[in-house]
Amino acid sequence: MIGVGIESTCDETSIGITREGDTLLSLKLYSQIELHKKYRGVVPEIASRAHLEKINLLLEEAIQEAGVGFADLAYVSVSAYPGLMGALIIGAQMARCLAMALGIPVVPVDHLEAHMAAIRLEGQRPEFPYLGVLLSGGNSAVYIVHGFGKMEVVGDTMDDALGEAFDKVAALLDLSYPGGPPVEEQAKQYLPASDEKQLFPELLRDLPRNEVKFSYSGLKTSVLYYTKKNDISAKQIPKICYHFQNTAFQLVEKNLKRAVAITGVKRIVAAGGVLANQTLRDRLHDFSLQKGWDLFTPIKRILCTDNGAMVACLGYHLLQLGKSASLDFRVSPSRQVECS
Ligand code: KG4
Repeated sequence: MIGVGIESTCDETSIGITREGDTLLSLKLYSQIELHKKYRGVVPEIASRAHLEKINLLLEEAIQEAGVGFADLAYVSVSAYPGLMGALIIGAQMARCLAMALGIPVVPVDHLEAHMAAIRLEGQRPEFPYLGVLLSGGNSAVYIVHGFGKMEVVGDTMDDALGEAFDKVAALLDLSYPGGPPVEEQAKQYLPASDEKQLFPELLRDLPRNEVKFSYSGLKTSVLYYTKKNDISAKQIPKICYHFQNTAFQLVEKNLKRAVAITGVKRIVAAGGVLANQTLRDRLHDFSLQKGWDLFTPIKRILCTDNGAMVACLGYHLLQLGKSASLDFRVSPSRQVECS
């Protein structure tokens, strides 16, 4: 069964085509980073227009690269929530058109759950239940995933998402947008002394005990005060980036420890754009090994970021469970998962 997945929740327009959900046939992605760069963040109206301009072309290219025809498509799947409203509508309309024109079922999917399905495209198949830790520009949260279409929130962010914190810290340090890659690069250049104290430790002290909670706005403000109090030269940027990153990732580890203790689940799927960070990947792998947990992360960077292949993959599995929708399905800017 060949299916197409459409992704347009934020600033990536993407179409993926898969066979039996888990075999990737093609993946086309247009990143709008250049359009949003000068605003240092995603401008919703610009995002919607860019999706509209690119989506048809990407669909044609994906079909061609997969070596299939429109008549081979058995279903269409689309990220329906959460996301920017105008951006979601573009993907949803494309899905409705394909479903109507080809007479195939449409499967709206949760974008967040789709991120966790991405690893299946690389042959990784964790058993349910697993903990899904999603770290991106808009999310820092841990979920428990009981099955396809069945997940609950274990813990969430109280303010800024992790990727957003990278973007804001990069702006403070006059590094490029998006902030993740340049902050990671700078941090790699710094070698701390073995007894070096953390520059930004407050974050870990102030969090509620025994709960999974992310909070990065305090860390970002600490970086801001540090840059104001100290005369920052280019030489100090690697040190600041190192300490920001180190504290930020310690919170991920701490929350995973708490999530495992609360749920008893030791299988973890980590996903989202921030997983492109090699330091984070290495740390999570080492930490999981030390704790005896099974950790799954996407291997290819394109499967960390928002992409249509993960949508086609999850759509297939939901369709097997009979979860297609009528053409008047709703999209929503907000998350639809319940708290456990
Ligand atoms: O999942 P994603 O592609 O899309 C949105 O959530 O929109 O995540 C994008 C986020 C951005 O905030 C970006 O700075 C962050 O992922 N990111 C990184 C790295 N590469 C991208 N954060 C840390 N280190 C990286 N290497």
